[in-house]
Amino acid sequence: MQPPSLRRKFSPALFTAATMKSSAAARKGAGNLSVFVVIFSIFIFGCFMYNEDIKSLAEFPFSPTPKSQRKETTTVSVVMNARTVVETEVEGGGSSATGGGDDDRKEEVQAVSLKKVEEEEEDEEEEEIEIPPEDCDLFTGKWVFDNSTHPIYREEECEFLTAQVTCMRNGRKDSLYQNWRWQPRDCSLPKFKARLLLEKLRNKRLMFVGDSLNRNQWESMICLVQSAAPTGRKSLNKTGSLSVFRIEDYNATVEFYWAPFLVESNSDDPNMHSILNRIIMPGSIKKHGKNWKNVDYLIFNTYIWWMNTFSMKVLRGSFDKGATEYDEVDRPVAYRRVLRTWAKWVDKNVDTNRTKVFFMSTSPLHIKSLDWDNPDGIKCAKETTPILNTSMPLNVGTDRRLFVLASNITKSMKVPVYFLNITTLSEYRKDAHTSVHTIRQGKMLTPEQQADPATFADCIHWCLPGLPDTWNEFLYTRIISHS
Ligand SMILES: *[C@@H]1O[C@H](CO)[C@@H](O)[C@H](O)[C@H]1NC(C)=O
Ligand SMILES: *[C@@H]1O[C@H](CO)[C@@H](O)[C@H](O)[C@H]1NC(C)=O
Ligand SMILES: *[C@@H]1O[C@H](CO)[C@@H](O)[C@H](O)[C@H]1NC(C)=O
Ligand SMILES: *[C@@H]1O[C@H](CO)[C@@H](O)[C@H](O)[C@H]1NC(C)=O
Ligand SMILES: *[C@@H]1O[C@H](CO)[C@@H](O)[C@H](O)[C@H]1NC(C)=O
Ligand SMILES: *[C@@H]1O[C@H](CO)[C@@H](O)[C@H](O)[C@H]1NC(C)=O
Ligand SMILES: *[C@@H]1O[C@H](CO)[C@@H](O)[C@H](O)[C@H]1NC(C)=O
Repeated sequence: MQPPSLRRKFSPALFTAATMKSSAAARKGAGNLSVFVVIFSIFIFGCFMYNEDIKSLAEFPFSPTPKSQRKETTTVSVVMNARTVVETEVEGGGSSATGGGDDDRKEEVQAVSLKKVEEEEEDEEEEEIEIPPEDCDLFTGKWVFDNSTHPIYREEECEFLTAQVTCMRNGRKDSLYQNWRWQPRDCSLPKFKARLLLEKLRNKRLMFVGDSLNRNQWESMICLVQSAAPTGRKSLNKTGSLSVFRIEDYNATVEFYWAPFLVESNSDDPNMHSILNRIIMPGSIKKHGKNWKNVDYLIFNTYIWWMNTFSMKVLRGSFDKGATEYDEVDRPVAYRRVLRTWAKWVDKNVDTNRTKVFFMSTSPLHIKSLDWDNPDGIKCAKETTPILNTSMPLNVGTDRRLFVLASNITKSMKVPVYFLNITTLSEYRKDAHTSVHTIRQGKMLTPEQQADPATFADCIHWCLPGLPDTWNEFLYTRIISHS
């Protein structure tokens, strides 16, 4: 489409926030970008993107504990389209991967596990799970208050949640944001059963690839499945860009790979996020892509890192070869180039006999309370209920051009990609962000910062339990009905 409008040089010094002012001044002199745009970008996104949680994903090595001897079998009937009944054998905790531990403790362990088996048999005997019909549009519907089924897990029960998302622990007073269930108009989402999902993931890898919103969803997925694995039989290991949650008894992993633009960029360091001068290499994906091979479920996203400037800086050449020149390209033009590169990689490298591919549509922000007619609001900070009137036209500033590009490109590929259309339904959830109940640059907000939501509220990320659990319910639905 448009030829690159501007050609720029950058020096490493421009990477730091301290030099943003001079860099802004330089840009003004050069033309296209006004000071207003730069200040606007810094104002709106500086506060959010700068506070990336950098220290939260520490390693959680768990020492192996004596393995229980239990082996129970639960039968789950899966009703497909309310007709075909598929019987799935669900085996819990029965693998013999490690030896039994010392005999002294065996009796005690057995007593505990017997009790556990009884409990589990009570609530998991014959359970019918109804799969929605293939042609049902899961993403058109409404939020309904349902505190008997939601949240699916409790904040304090999931030790793997990072301080970025544990809003209640961080001082949030209202909790109703946890109690909303998504109700599709023409069908219903199946009840979430961790064991059923883990059975589908047995000997498999599931990987989220993308930015901190996909990491948010990855944490949710860990919590959704971890309850079905006994203590000491699950672990979290973070090595560089890759974080791996492993559930021993199923030989299954739920992974997250940091690649905020999917393609190579100067923002690929998983810990160093204070880069305001973001530069991408839209044609370069192999370096990341080699880490996505031999994965069974791949879930991609990319959006939020595009939003801090109206144009994207595209490197001329390669970082490896020391290139420093870049062009400024309109955001949708650059986004299309990146998704084309990504689509080509998927079509070339994904073995459809093994791997299912998903793409998460844009996760919306709630920055301006006037967008939902609340003149007394401060960003998302005072919101405690979703927007329930779905006939009211809603515009919270989502860049729909990127949404449409992602929707179109995922449709045009050789490899089938399931597009999770979570944007509109998430736009209703002004109540679900972490707001001031979160961390910033690795540290909990101070009471003074919490009292100043106009500056400090994070209206990008989401509390857990919360909205990303629903995104994973869609993923769950797709996985259990297509394997
Ligand atoms: C996405 O879902 C919304 C409703 O939540 C619907 O209006 C829209 O048409 C859907 N878009 C696509 C591309 O599926
Ligand atoms: C669920 O919500 C209803 C209506 O607000 C309330 O009466 C009830 O106590 C709640 N139950 C739980 C378990 O929180
Ligand atoms: C465990 O899972 C890995 C990764 O999916 C797979 O390659 C391996 O074969 C599995 N091991 C067994 C014993 O099935
Ligand atoms: C974490 O994973 C890395 C890379 O696979 C491995 O070298 C390391 O030993 C693992 N650490 C733990 C505690 O399992
Ligand atoms: C996928 O499976 C089909 C049928 O089993 C087989 O014919 C085909 O060669 C396989 N494709 C690949 C890429 O392995
Ligand atoms: C929902 O919004 C529409 C359009 O703004 C309005 O006409 C209608 O009265 C609203 N409904 C309720 C129940 O508030
Ligand atoms: C997306 O696809 C629709 C329907 O095929 C088409 O009308 C539209 O122009 C496409 N938009 C973009 C930005 O590619």
